[in-house]
Amino acid sequence: MVSCLGDKDGNANGLGFLFLLALSLLFISSQLYVSATYSTVPAVKGLEYNFYHSSCPKLETVVRKHLKKVFKEDVGQAAGLLRLHFHDCFVQGCDASVLLDGSASGPSEQDAPPNLSLRSKAFEIIDDLRKLVHDKCGRVVSCADLTALAARDSVHLSGGPDYEVPLGRRDGLNFATTEATLQNLPAPSSNADSLLTALATKNLDATDVVALSGGHTIGLSHCSSFSDRLYPSEDPTMDAEFAQDLKNICPPNSNNTTPQDVITPNLFDNSYYVDLINRQGLFTSDQDLFTDTRTKEIVQDFASDQELFFEKFVLAMTKMGQLSVLAGSEGEIRADCSLRNADNPSFPASVVVDSDVESKSEL
Ligand code: HEM
Repeated sequence: MVSCLGDKDGNANGLGFLFLLALSLLFISSQLYVSATYSTVPAVKGLEYNFYHSSCPKLETVVRKHLKKVFKEDVGQAAGLLRLHFHDCFVQGCDASVLLDGSASGPSEQDAPPNLSLRSKAFEIIDDLRKLVHDKCGRVVSCADLTALAARDSVHLSGGPDYEVPLGRRDGLNFATTEATLQNLPAPSSNADSLLTALATKNLDATDVVALSGGHTIGLSHCSSFSDRLYPSEDPTMDAEFAQDLKNICPPNSNNTTPQDVITPNLFDNSYYVDLINRQGLFTSDQDLFTDTRTKEIVQDFASDQELFFEKFVLAMTKMGQLSVLAGSEGEIRADCSLRNADNPSFPASVVVDSDVESKSEL
């Protein structure tokens, strides 16, 4: 091929060939870069990156289009949806159990203290997405998958990385107890040592812990989540001026809110790590990442290299998004994200059975 080109048209063709070669190398390396950066976590058993390829080909377009509209009206909802996915996955796996209303069997996950500050609008948005998607494709897409996709789009539409999400999660039939919810969601007063220990039980390492905490680059926190660092005395690891600003926003027992990232509150970027270096992290669980020797360097690396943060965030989110998922014939596809099908009065029991038979035979 080379000699052919050279023989035919001398130098001009040689240059043309070099140009084409350079172009194709550029193309290949950009493809490698994209896949090496954002798509290296293998899907767990039962999930696939193109799960809805034939059953709901427009799924991701429908979700993104709707969320664009939602965020245009209120950018803060992106943070609510991102946190919802985290709270779903850490408790009993990504099975949409956090979306279930309470029942006679006891208070739901939503009633557990760490979930009380989840935005009620986030639950509504997920069920709106479910309606749109089920209208288009039938009841084939789970609420757990919609929550994972909504989290991804929240990140990307706020300025963060875009990435593929393994899909095929099924919705759980029950929710976790308050005790299990408390056990699995770390408190903001946790230090890095207890975060590292807690997240290691979910196969998340120090880089994952630091990267996932970067979710705090968007959204709001209530004063009560960090007031222990202001009263009765100021946490000496907090920048004094920042502490004073927070005290102005958060007098004792205040129910006010404040942005989690003071530099760019609504932008998904790496400035959360710059905040930590400036000793302007809100929670002990944030700030201590810049104190513990196992995480400090990672904070510095992410603060100086946003692309590195994005790459590690995608890896960690993909791991988190596949924690203890239900797949295949496990669980169900809910017809209403807040109710298991058996509790759904507008969903006849016969259909529950039929659909399970149907979905099993599809697999
Ligand atoms: C590592 C342990 C974590 C702790 C201790 C923690 C704790 C908290 C707390 C206390 C709040 C504020 C709640 C309030 O007062 O309203 C919050 C908000 C938030 N968290 Fe986390 N979080 C953690 C991990 C994560 C992860 C892994 C993500 C996502 C990848 C995340 C995303 C968010 C977002 C986006 C908000 C803002 C929510 C909103 O504006 O509605 N967090 N987190």
